[in-house]
Formats: sequence, structure tokens, C-alpha cells
Amino acid sequence: MNDRPLAVLVLAAGKGTRMRSERPKVLHQVAGRSMLGHAIAAAETLGAERIVVIVAPGMDEVARAAAPHAVAVQERQLGTGDAVQSARGALDGFMGDVLVLYGDCPLIRAETLNAMRAQRRGEAVTVLGIRVPGPSPYGRLVLAGDGTLDRIVEALDATEAERRIDLCNSGVMLIDGTRLFDLLDGIGSANAKGEYYLTDIVAAARRAGLACRVVEAPAEEALGVNSRVELAEAEAVMQARLRRKVMENGATLIDPATVWLCHDTAIGRDVTIEPNVVFGPGVTIGDGVEIRAFCHIERATVADGAIIGPYARLRPGAEIGAKAHIGNFVEIKNARIDAGAKANHLSYIGDADVGAGANIGAGTITCNYDGFAKHRTVIGAGAFIGSDTTLVAPVTVGDGAFTGAGSTITEDVPADALAVARGRQAVKEGWAEAFRARQRAAKGNG
Ligand code: UD1
Ligand code: MG
Repeated sequence: MNDRPLAVLVLAAGKGTRMRSERPKVLHQVAGRSMLGHAIAAAETLGAERIVVIVAPGMDEVARAAAPHAVAVQERQLGTGDAVQSARGALDGFMGDVLVLYGDCPLIRAETLNAMRAQRRGEAVTVLGIRVPGPSPYGRLVLAGDGTLDRIVEALDATEAERRIDLCNSGVMLIDGTRLFDLLDGIGSANAKGEYYLTDIVAAARRAGLACRVVEAPAEEALGVNSRVELAEAEAVMQARLRRKVMENGATLIDPATVWLCHDTAIGRDVTIEPNVVFGPGVTIGDGVEIRAFCHIERATVADGAIIGPYARLRPGAEIGAKAHIGNFVEIKNARIDAGAKANHLSYIGDADVGAGANIGAGTITCNYDGFAKHRTVIGAGAFIGSDTTLVAPVTVGDGAFTGAGSTITEDVPADALAVARGRQAVKEGWAEAFRARQRAAKGNG
């Protein structure tokens, strides 16, 4: 293992015009996390001592997303070499290895970067290479006779013979930090784009008598996102990875391609997930849970053995207890549903605590919002809430209490009591027949 100190630079100053977006490119999301967030998470996994994100002037939103890590501003976008130059101040006094990542490459895995570091043998520059046969926009890696890396030639500057090389530059580079800026100072911009290419650091190192090498990685990891179409491609690769991980951990996905996961979705063993389920960020699912078709779940926890759906929605702050049942067209927000409680049909439970074993009848609504503030509803253990009860919060229904179907509950209900709050039924014998007779007579006269 390579235990030299590590600094990671994440290049993110490019404009990203092809996204056609008001939002900076690196803040577009893959699996519920920004592409920049993916790069930073990989850097954090490596135990980097410093992480510096290179931004363009005015990219305040990107700087906020980079926090608590440092940003360095690249005044003008003069190329990847110039981007790294702008981190000179941020790397002042740093003596370890510098890893360069791109903010628009969300699929690069920390394992791959670790393997790259582990294979470093004191070279000045290690480049992560990918095999890409046929025409491509990637820089080509030109090897020396001894198999070390001689130079990188950009596709636009390459000869026809060089363009036939299928070993390409992923963009990821590990550079000896004690040499980095000396080598960069020797790089010019006499090339097809008139830019300072970071890739020219390899030739500069060779001129200084230093060795460079290539470590290969799967091409899929180097997918760079420049457009919405490529964003969708990256999402598809990431989803496939996440689904595989969840299945390897012991969950059954009946139709994996229809289940959408987030980078942080945590799912236990012996969980069954039916088709068409969407997980937003911050979801934890226990063991033995059944998630039926067409559920939408975000920032929620579900304890062991619960049954969710079909067609249930768990919104932020939903905490579903063990063996609880949340059924079709039930929405839960910022509410605790304790063990064994049931809300099986057509309900909204928001800002509430529902005790263990309580039964929430069809059509129950917590009226949690008065137009200004949210209020809490507390339902005790074993309570029975009749169908179509509206609970006007703040209100408490005690343990074991009942509410009559169709009640509008505005006052607290003591434990084990019955509260009925609805108009008393009036029956008028023969009224309907008399009404019809009057109507018929009126029509006949007209
Ligand atoms: C670069 C590599 C190429 C490699 C390819 C992999 C160079 C010269 N070429 O080409 O060999 O095969 O990536 O995808 O490095 N950026 C800045 N400031 C700049 C310019 C770019 O921060 O002035 C950032 C961009 O935001 C992006 C990254 O650097 O995150 C790469 O820039 P890009 O213009 O996409 O480089 P490529 O032409 O794709
Ligand atoms: Mg690119």
C-alpha cells in the first residue's frame, strides 16, 4: 500500500455549455448526488489530506457544494494544465502525491483509485488508462519500448497512426507533488486548441529524466458527462451498480431495471422489492421488509418485517416500525408509526406519532397545517381510528381509544374512550318517493 500523503484536485471550472442548463454541470445529479459529490466522496474514501476543487470565477454554488473542502479559482479556462496551476496556493507546502480527478466523471470508483496508488512505484506521473477501440475524443497514451509511458497526445493533435492507439487517457492522474509545479511550468500551449494541456506533463517528466506509467481501468469508469444524454448514460451505469450491490447484500429485486436507488440507499437482507419502486436519498430499510409495486420513498426508515405499498409514499421523516403495514395511497410525512401499526388505505399521516398496534382506518387525514404552522397529532398504542376520521392537530387520541367513522376530532380523546364527532343521522320515511312525485307533477304541468 502507498502511504504517502495524498491531495486530490477536482477540476470543475469547465463551462459545461452542452448541458444547456442554468446549473453548473458538476452539480447535476447521478443517483441522487451531484457529480462533484461523487468525486469528493471518492477522494474522502482515499483519506486525502487536502481536497481542492478548481472552479471558475462566479461558481459560488459549486464552492458551497465543495465545502468544507477548499476551492481554488481558475481565472480563465486556459486548459487542464492551467487548471492545476491554479491550485498552486492551495497546495503550498504539500509534499505527497497529487491525484487529479474531473468533476464530471461520476463513475470512477475509489477501489480503482486505491489500486492505482498501490501500483505506484515512485514514478513522477501515473496515468489511469482505458481501452477504447476505434475513433474517440480521448488523449492517446504512447508507450516507450520498455512499456512505460512516453507521452500523451490529444486526439486533435494526433497523427493517423497515433489515433489508432486504443490505450487512452481517462483523465485521472497521480503526480508526485514535489515535482508537479516545476514540470507544469515547462508546458506550453502550441497545440490544436491553444490550451495548456495537463497531459503534456508526461513528456515534461520524461525530458527531466523521470519515469511515467499507465495503470489500466475499465473504460466505463471514465465516462465523462458533457450532455444530458451522457448524464442519463452515467445514471444507467450507476443504477446497475447499486442494484447489483443491493442484491448481493440479500435483497430480491423482481425486476431490477425498474427499481431506482440512491447512492446511499441502505437495504437489509431478505427484503423483497417489487417492480417500479423509487428510492430518494436517505432511506434505510431493515431486514425482511416487503416493498410492493409503485412506492416512492425518501428520507425515511423502515424497520424489520414491515410491509409497504403497493402505491405508498414515504416522505422525509417517516419512521415505520417493525411489522407495521402502510398500504395503497397512504402518504406518511415526518411521522413515527410504531411496531405493528396499520394504515392500509387512502390516508395522510403527517407530523404524527402513531403508537404500536394502532389501526388507522381508510381515509384518515391528519390536518397538520393551519396555513401558518404545522401541528402534531398523537395517536396512542392500540387506538382504533375509524374510517374517514379527520384529526385536527394539535390533538391526542389516547391509548386504546376509538374514534367513530367520519369524525372530525378537534379535542383530545382520553385513553380507552370513544369519540364520535359527526352529524347525527336523520331518516325521513317516504321522503324520496314524495320528492320524485313532486318532480314528475311539475314536469307534467310545464
Ligand atoms: C481531457 C484530456 C484527455 C482525456 C480526456 C478524458 C487534457 C488536455 N486532455 O480532455 O487526454 O482523454 O480529458 O475525458 O487534459 N477544466 C478546467 N479548466 C480548464 C479546462 C478544463 O477546470 O481550463 C476541467 C473541466 O471542467 C473538466 C476537465 O477539466 O472537468 C476536463 O476538461 P475537458 O475540456 O473535458 O478535457 P477533454 O478535452 O475532455
Ligand atoms: Mg471532457
